[in-house]
Amino acid sequence: MHVGLCFNLKPTNESISDDFYAEWDDEETIAAVRSALSGKHRVIPIEANEDAFEKFRQLRPDIVFNMAEGLSGSSRELQIPAMLEMLRIPYTGSGPITLGLCLDKSLAKEVLSYHGVPTAPFVVVRDLPEKKKFPPFPLIVKPLYEGSSKGIRNNSLVRTTAQLQEQISAILTEYHQPALVEKYLAGREFTVALLGNGAEVQVLPIVEIQFEQLPANINPIYSFEAKWIWDTVEKPLEIFACPAKTSSSLEKRIRAVSQAAFLALRCRDWCRIDIRLDESGEPNVLELNPLPGILPNPDANSCFPKAARTAGLSYADLINRVLEIACQRVGLNL
Ligand SMILES: Nc1ncnc2c1ncn2[C@@H]1O[C@H](COP(=O)(O)OP(=O)(O)OP(=O)(O)O)[C@@H](O)[C@H]1O
Ligand SMILES: [Mg+2]
Repeated sequence: MHVGLCFNLKPTNESISDDFYAEWDDEETIAAVRSALSGKHRVIPIEANEDAFEKFRQLRPDIVFNMAEGLSGSSRELQIPAMLEMLRIPYTGSGPITLGLCLDKSLAKEVLSYHGVPTAPFVVVRDLPEKKKFPPFPLIVKPLYEGSSKGIRNNSLVRTTAQLQEQISAILTEYHQPALVEKYLAGREFTVALLGNGAEVQVLPIVEIQFEQLPANINPIYSFEAKWIWDTVEKPLEIFACPAKTSSSLEKRIRAVSQAAFLALRCRDWCRIDIRLDESGEPNVLELNPLPGILPNPDANSCFPKAARTAGLSYADLINRVLEIACQRVGLNL
């Protein structure tokens, strides 16, 4: 088969503390996906830039493996899938509506609430000064539509009105987008990788993020610093447990909430869902990642490949499995 591989390549001169391109993939990841697919298919790399539409139109791959995070704005992740729908070229993963809803965390939470899937109470702030009624402290303040912990730093967890105002104005001015102010969920954190479609969706072994391993006096959140600065390939943080140690009742509840969220947002093929327990120990959905991070180096601590490894799937198995699931969904013979 001719498989298009659509990606956004991270510029190499980016400094790690500058999070502008944090969601884009590096050469190593794109090469690893390409090599995984090349075992069985002819791979056509297509960069997700303004020329992508013409390339898809001329090259017409049988299917596209989509890992493009998109150029900019709150619709960036759905740009490529929308083009492919227009050209009637099938692709892996979720469609434009799901990608758009999940990138806007408040819209995703509204859909989850409709379906009775637990998620923390929240308020969206578009301007300051703001006279909204916030949930009680402590609160988390984050950008409305970012990923890879962009804009979520150690001081995003706020305990006073002054800290809250400071963090809101930082999001509005630095990220030029609304701030999502959410009740802080104080319990354990998990991330759940799902593979498949509909009622058949498979939940891979659950990953727990254990904050005791973070430097002392640091808030127990998986912040940008924790993800990219304190945890490096040279010195990986031992903060993950996979499979997570849970009672079977907790595991069941986490799996059920994750599957319900996957179905509520109409995710397809794969998705990684972040979960945190509230003060009564109930799993709440933080957010859904229908374009999950897939760093190939195990020391880079990328959670989807980690969960797949625990389930016995190598990196190449995982990538090919996603392609197979997408082919089955659209009725393409591999
Ligand atoms: N309501 C909350 N209560 C407690 N912790 C939270 C809350 N919201 C976010 N966090 C912490 O901040 C981290 C990042 O938040 P979130 O998952 O929303 O951001 P993201 O940038 O979209 O993440 P990703 O890298 O998974 O794309 C979470 O993993 C969690 O540790
Ligand atoms: Mg997250």
